[in-house]
Amino acid sequence: MSEYLSLIPGSVVRVGSDEEISKWIAALDYSSLWIISDNTVMETTSERLSNIFSMATGIILIPEGEMTKSIETCSMVWDQLLSGGADRQSLILNIGGGVVTDLGGFCASTFQRGVRFINIPTTLLALCDAAVGGKTGVNLGAVKNQIGLFSDPLRVFVMPELTQTLTDRQFKSGLAEAIKHGILDGGEHWRVAMSHPDSYDEKSSELILRSIACKAGVVSRDPKEKGDRRSLNLGHTIGHAIESISQMEEKPMLHGEAVALGLIVTLILSVHLNDYDSAKAEEAILRLYRLLPPYKVIFDKSDAATVADRTLQYIKYDKKRVGDTISFVLMNSRGGVSYSDDLDVSLLAVILENVLETWAIKD
Ligand SMILES: NC(=O)c1ccc[n+]([C@@H]2O[C@H](COP(=O)([O-])OP(=O)(O)OC[C@H]3O[C@@H](n4cnc5c(N)ncnc54)[C@H](O)[C@@H]3O)[C@@H](O)[C@H]2O)c1
Repeated sequence: MSEYLSLIPGSVVRVGSDEEISKWIAALDYSSLWIISDNTVMETTSERLSNIFSMATGIILIPEGEMTKSIETCSMVWDQLLSGGADRQSLILNIGGGVVTDLGGFCASTFQRGVRFINIPTTLLALCDAAVGGKTGVNLGAVKNQIGLFSDPLRVFVMPELTQTLTDRQFKSGLAEAIKHGILDGGEHWRVAMSHPDSYDEKSSELILRSIACKAGVVSRDPKEKGDRRSLNLGHTIGHAIESISQMEEKPMLHGEAVALGLIVTLILSVHLNDYDSAKAEEAILRLYRLLPPYKVIFDKSDAATVADRTLQYIKYDKKRVGDTISFVLMNSRGGVSYSDDLDVSLLAVILENVLETWAIKD
């Protein structure tokens, strides 16, 4: 067995059809079965997942988009569970992208002090990242992931073929997190991630399973993010901040797009501060720029300097910030990660503005 396959936890199962999932669920003892999903997921997966949808006691559809990942949506979900007669022996299936798996996992883990849940991720981003690792939660206003808990799904069922119906933009957004894992792992994983095209192909399954193995390996060593799990936040200090400020624009950035931008800034900082391999950084940076939509699609009315300034202001709300310093994950000269707790904010400001300007010019 390939080394990466042996790292995938037993609770994550690659399946070829939804029959395998429905048989496994049917063998469980549960009082009622609830699906949490959204309209687009229902439309695009109803054929492939018809066996599962037909087993449901009730289907709870949440509105789409990052803004929906809120306590208000949780209230709506909890209300529907309660009025539909769900109890502690119920089973919840989260079928969708990272918004559904984050919010659905949180709703399940808190409803009546916790009911069992299963994730069936349907976006590349959720398959590679959000649906595994046990982080569940919602945003507080525009501040990302402020409310939540660590809670593991009973199973994560992996069907890479579900990503065939994603828009190009959504697929590229997922590729950013997959590339992050490739950067962290290096070696063959780096190559698989960098060479993957912008849409589903025969290598997608390997890309997804390598990402899961990378994340699961880190999480198994540090499940509650006391140490090395912080490495998975590579690119996320900037990413979360710019994603949050873009929520105030007419067309917000997707999570993976913001992470792609955060990774570009991080790689440049890593070359400057940690002597990270500049050729590798350049290869990754060029690939990551290609995942971004045109700058004007997001920040039509704001120039790079303004966006950089607002992003840096916002970072002070980032939950990973400790005291007065900015905590940052960087790559180092050996291709591993190192942590900086006293990053020079003026250097960060210059690099961020430069990266935003380059993005704007590329249009
Ligand atoms: N818990 C974690 O460890 C973790 C890790 C990374 C990201 N996240 C979170 O994940 C979220 C982003 O997830 P996302 O990128 O999946 O976005 P998303 O959940 O918003 O889904 C994106 C869109 O794709 C549609 N969609 C889903 N599956 C589809 C399919 N198969 N075909 C066509 N359309 C489909 C959805 O309806 C939605 O409109 C963010 O909130 C982020 O914070 C969590």
